Parts: sequence; structure tokens; C-alpha cells
Amino acid sequence: MQNIAFLNGEYLPLEQARISPLDRGFLFGEGVYEVIPAIQGRAIALVPHIHRLLQGMRALEIKPAWAMDDWRNLCEALIEKNTDASISSNLGIYLHVSRGADKRRFHAYPEGLQPTIFGFAFELQESCLHSPDIKKTLSVITAEDLRWQRCHIKSTSLLGNVMHFQQGQAAGSDEAILHNANGNVTEASAANVFLVKDGTVITPPLEQQLLPGITRMMLLDILRRHTEIPVEERPVQLQELRSADEVWLTSSTKGVTPVTRIDGEPVASGEAGELWQRLNPVFHQHKFDY
Ligand code: PDD
Repeated sequence: MQNIAFLNGEYLPLEQARISPLDRGFLFGEGVYEVIPAIQGRAIALVPHIHRLLQGMRALEIKPAWAMDDWRNLCEALIEKNTDASISSNLGIYLHVSRGADKRRFHAYPEGLQPTIFGFAFELQESCLHSPDIKKTLSVITAEDLRWQRCHIKSTSLLGNVMHFQQGQAAGSDEAILHNANGNVTEASAANVFLVKDGTVITPPLEQQLLPGITRMMLLDILRRHTEIPVEERPVQLQELRSADEVWLTSSTKGVTPVTRIDGEPVASGEAGELWQRLNPVFHQHKFDY
């Protein structure tokens, strides 16, 4: 069956989707995107994802004439069409807006371009997001964060992230946890970072050096509303990660996944931690609340 995508007002088979090479998304990486998980046909945190997309468009001064409901309808249509096409019952919905194609390659924002709106669905690889019964763990390396100063924008300019992710893969690990020159942890190359110390869940505060992750937001809210577990949003030093009782990565594709090795060394016992085991079912119970 065919994977059905959306491009500028039209649903079509993914392999037939075409954009201009003059699209500024292609030339400059000038766009924003979202990845929204849909488990068994149900989207997780659709509205917060669309809000972040709209916020990103405001930051880039891209103005497609689309309201919340248009984005919601697009997501629902992509889920429906691609679940019917049996791509998978668990999908990642990718939404993408770039400034559009211009006649010339000029660095400043041109007036009056028609933004490119693209969406497609892909099979979500099995992860801790799918069900509380799935128990995956990750190994990571650490690296100095060499990306730019606007990581809070979910930009399609992902080269910095891609190079850090590749660094992790090349070292035989799953991911790279990044820290700035002062040793403060920012995030991973494609996920947010949490640690547990003496029963408290700790994560770096939101600022321009990390993405305001939707899974991060959900996890913090679930912890505060549905558990007595203390939570701190505060700067985290790399050294604290190495001596943590538990470390987790969160994202829309991974859910909340324990990290069991950092730079080849085990995190505590080297197994998924006790607090994660306790919290994971609570996360799953509430994952569709957002
Ligand atoms: N990435 N930080 C970065 C740099 C990310 O790329 C992501 C997610 C996150 C987690 O955000 P969220 O919980 O909203 O997914 C944090 C997506 C999944 C991607 O690029 O594929």
C-alpha cells in the first residue's frame, strides 16, 4: 500500500511529492517542523505540538494562513490515510513548514512567498512510548554542545544535531548528551535529559540552548499532578549525570527511556532504575491526556 503524504494542499503518494530546489527550506534550512506520535491511531499531545509549530513560525516570521483546526485536520487525515494503508498502527506524523521558493537566492526574508507545507507519516520504531511492557535502554556518549544559540526553535536546520547524533552512533552508542563549555547539560541531540538523585527528578530549565520538549512537559506535569515525587528544573552539571541514580531521555519517538551507560560506564547498577519502573506505568496511564 502507498504511503500518503500532504504537500501544499494536496494528498498524494509520498514518492510523487516534489518541491522546488529554490525552496528556502532546501537552500537555507529555513523552516520549522514537528514529529507527533500516534499510537494505535491516537495522537499524543497534538495541540501542544501544533502550538510549538505556530510559535516556531512566529519566530521565523512565516505566516501560512492556517489555524489550529487546519493543522489538526491534517494530522488526523495523515493518521487515518496511513493507518488504512497499513504503514503501521504506530506512526510518527512529520509536519514541516518552510518559507517557500523564491526566484533568487537572497539571504534576507523575501516578502510574499507562499510557504511550503508538507506532512507525511512514518512507522514509529518500537520504543518505550508504545507500551509500559517495552523496556528498552540506551547507551550515550557525552559531547560539548557545538550547535547554535537558538535550540529552543524546532528548526529544520538540524545539521548541528545530526552531527552530534552521528558522533554518538560512530562511538557505538545510541545518542549524545550535550553540555556547554561550563559543563552544564543542555539536552541530547534529539531528546531532553532527566536525572534522578536521592529520589528527586531533575531536568535542566528551559532556555535558548534546549528544545521545550513536549514529552518533557508531559512528564513534568504527570510527576507534579499524579505523584508525590519531588521535581526540580535547575542547571545540571555533567558530573551530576555521571553520579546520578538514574538518567532518562525523553522524546516523541522514545517516550521516557532509561540511559544505562554514559561514556561506557554504567549509570548506577547499569539497569533501568527503580523510579523509572514506578513512574513508567503512570506516564502511560496519562499519555493521552495532553
Ligand atoms: N526530536 N530536543 C531535541 C533536539 C529534539 O530533536 C527532540 C525531539 C526533543 C524532544 O522533544 P519532543 O518531546 O517534543 O519530541 C528534544 C524529534 C523527535 C525528531 O527530531 O525526530
